[in-house]
Amino acid sequence: MILRYYKYSVLCLTFVAIIGSISVHMLDPEFAGKLTQEDNSELIAKGKILYQKSSCIGCHGKKGNYPTNSDWPNLAGQPKKYLYQQLIDIREGNRNNGGSSLMAGSIKNLGNETAYLIAIYLSSL
Ligand code: HEC
Repeated sequence: MILRYYKYSVLCLTFVAIIGSISVHMLDPEFAGKLTQEDNSELIAKGKILYQKSSCIGCHGKKGNYPTNSDWPNLAGQPKKYLYQQLIDIREGNRNNGGSSLMAGSIKNLGNETAYLIAIYLSSL
């Protein structure tokens, strides 16, 4: 009886560990729900201010659609969840393909909230 209970606990713990490690790679739960909601113009306006006063525009252009190097991506109009996730991944060093490491320095202090607002703004363009 005790042995059966023990096996059951081990199984449960394994399950929790697997789910836990998968979710670490998923979208930040704090913003995942918000990113699926309708955008509101107030958030877009906040994101616009944050983006346009940041160093981002030096490489991606004032409206995210005019990169200074033609090999670099357009940000304007891309899905907000995608943009948000790329910002977090590049900041955390999980994405360092292509030229993304070039911007690692400028986003290392970018907070989740700012990344979320910038993603909403760029996506709305
Ligand atoms: C020094 C130039 C530079 C700066 C500054 C910079 N970026 Fe980038 N950014 C890049 C490059 C280069 C890439 C990746 C190109 C590649 O993967 O080949 C990139 C990629 C991205 C991506 C992923 C786009 C995609 O299609 O996957 C996002 C989102 C992004 N930048 C947003 C920003 C934001 C927001 C800021 C400011 C907080 C910023 N970047 C600052 C150069 C820069």
